[in-house]
Amino acid sequence: MRRIAVFDTTLRDGEQAPGCSMNPREKLEVAKRLEKLGVDVIEAGFPVSSPGDLESVRAIAEIVKDCSVAGLCRSLEKDIDAAAEALAGAVSPRIHIFLATSPIHMEYKLKMTPDQVLEQTASAVRYAKKFCDDVEFSAEDASRSDPDFLCRVFGEAIKAGARTLNIPDTVGYAMPEEFGKLVRYAKEHSPGAEKAVFSVHVHNDLGLAVANSLAAISAGADQVECTINGIGERAGNASLEEIVMALRVRRDFLKADTRIDSTRLYGASRLVSRVTGVKLPPNKAIVGDNAFVHEAGVHQHGVMAKRETYEIMTPESVGISKTRMVLGKHSGRHAFEDRLRSLGLGADAETLEKIFAEFKDLADKKKVVNDRDIEALVMGAAALPETWKLDHWAVNTGSALGASGTIRLQHRDGAFRKLVSLGDGPIDSIYKSINRIIGKEPELELYEIGAITGGSSSQGETMVKIAWNDRHYNGRGVSTDIIESSIKAYLAAINAMEWDIQGNPKPAMDTPAKSG
Ligand code: KIV
Ligand code: ZN
Repeated sequence: MRRIAVFDTTLRDGEQAPGCSMNPREKLEVAKRLEKLGVDVIEAGFPVSSPGDLESVRAIAEIVKDCSVAGLCRSLEKDIDAAAEALAGAVSPRIHIFLATSPIHMEYKLKMTPDQVLEQTASAVRYAKKFCDDVEFSAEDASRSDPDFLCRVFGEAIKAGARTLNIPDTVGYAMPEEFGKLVRYAKEHSPGAEKAVFSVHVHNDLGLAVANSLAAISAGADQVECTINGIGERAGNASLEEIVMALRVRRDFLKADTRIDSTRLYGASRLVSRVTGVKLPPNKAIVGDNAFVHEAGVHQHGVMAKRETYEIMTPESVGISKTRMVLGKHSGRHAFEDRLRSLGLGADAETLEKIFAEFKDLADKKKVVNDRDIEALVMGAAALPETWKLDHWAVNTGSALGASGTIRLQHRDGAFRKLVSLGDGPIDSIYKSINRIIGKEPELELYEIGAITGGSSSQGETMVKIAWNDRHYNGRGVSTDIIESSIKAYLAAINAMEWDIQGNPKPAMDTPAKSG
């Protein structure tokens, strides 16, 4: 059985997708989860892109021990310097350099001749080797490159010391058979190929990212780059959980597997969905809410008679527990902690104390507390320090009147501020009051409200995304009252913004556009 290395880029390609940004604390939490999941490489960020990114990569590099940590760079010395600096504390650092090789990228984006690309590939890899033995080279837009030129570029990279050669389908253009052929060709025709590991990195513009990745593995790729929940530029990257389970379930056919602990997939997927605020469609393969739900009577009957009639893998194999005890106000601490563990959620003793008290309060209001409620409690406890804290609120609204929203907030300096505003509805009026108190008017890019689970006793969950000075912030709020959940979500986003303004320097003016 071949072992395929999993290179996870959730924190780099995934994080740079619109609406998927994570704060440094969240990135660290995701990195720890990826390490436990058993990925081989965590691409932690693009260090030169901002001081914040560099710091996040540094923090991840210092804490992760059981897998490699990679930082992305253009083939420029200043990018490589930033990656080397960020990765200095890593047990197993990897510098990942990319340079485009397709005619369209070379002519219009890089404005470089093919010879210059060959030269720059070699010099960038040589430069990176001064800092780090493990260098990966990616030929951006490889699937639209001339295969012979691609092999020449790879030959230069190998000669200069690159250990891994990555073949990205940057724009998600390739067809599986064609992509497999390209991988085989590159392995057979790149000078020195026997010394290198061939990798693939596929985008999902035509919905073929996983199919292309599997075709590449069958054609000889030994590393696959992917993200949890398939998040990433545009339509995303290949989804890690889908590739891992395709290999595990069809080992017989694909003759390859990974070292991923598949029972941790669901927990990792939930974590990434929570911290990015990106919800999964219910029919998402492997980790969607309906992935193991049988609705049609004939299917239910079949599964009851023999599970394998309609299930090709068990929910338990991906970490979804089918038999769940209901938690309520009589549940003890032991049962609560047990459920946290099975959801892959950890907390230190002090936080646990706080969450358990909140769980008891919630169980008083709501008869049954389910997994999503528990996740919400843990998320709340992991929130960033609050510049603005909700003290109390009131709204007046009705069909014949406008709405007025009053809110009292406490600033972290201890002072209380209260204001009332009129608006086009309760949320508009209360958000206007908040803006006037904080003295800023961020753009509300997204406001989404839903119920955590079904039923009238469900908690309302609000997701908010705001933009301020070209930076984007997410907030999530949960409450049995939907206006309160909306206020909490908005304040969470505002607090993320304030934290950024206070503690996280803005990117330098020459910050490169992030690369997908
Ligand atoms: O899609 C792409 O080409 C990339 C490279 C930087 C690997 O993300
Ligand atoms: Zn990409």
